[in-house]
Amino acid sequence: MLDFLNDDRKRGIELAVREIVKYPAPILEKKCKEVVKFDRELANLLDDMYDTMVAADGVGIAAPQIGVDLQVAIVDMGDGQDIIELINPEVVAIGGSEIDIEGCLSFPNLFGEVERPYYVKVEAQERDGSIYEIEAEDYTARALLHEIDHLNGVLFNTKIKKIVTLEELEAMEEEMEMLAEGQGEEA
Ligand code: CO
Repeated sequence: MLDFLNDDRKRGIELAVREIVKYPAPILEKKCKEVVKFDRELANLLDDMYDTMVAADGVGIAAPQIGVDLQVAIVDMGDGQDIIELINPEVVAIGGSEIDIEGCLSFPNLFGEVERPYYVKVEAQERDGSIYEIEAEDYTARALLHEIDHLNGVLFNTKIKKIVTLEELEAMEEEMEMLAEGQGEEA
């Protein structure tokens, strides 16, 4: 079962896992409203998004995916790094290009090849309203751009160049694991 539930319960944290809005709900294809109030409600929204993303085993989630029409998204940058909170994000620079496979919590069982910039620089706000910049490459740049697209009502299905079946995806993951083991890396 889900180990994190047990850990969080031990710490007395109340989890708020919300239902994920699935395509073709209209809210997913609308441009979200700018956040103007950096208050407790916003913090609660971010916390609910985090709990929902972890429960769904996602690497990112946008507010409209839990039914909230605001420019708020979070991305798990991986490798033990912090979760990035993106409020009113703007892409300020891009570079290069890469094709890789994406999925989306709002499209269960749809995976496909999507071309995106290899590098991105984003300006966004923290939950306290302060402005920051973040640069990312490769997979994390892809995750940031996928979530920012959500806030503009742009869904990844409109960008898929080639659909990848679940069977193909599983075969690729197995191959990757075998390669990683061969190189003595942790999978
Ligand atoms: Co998505």
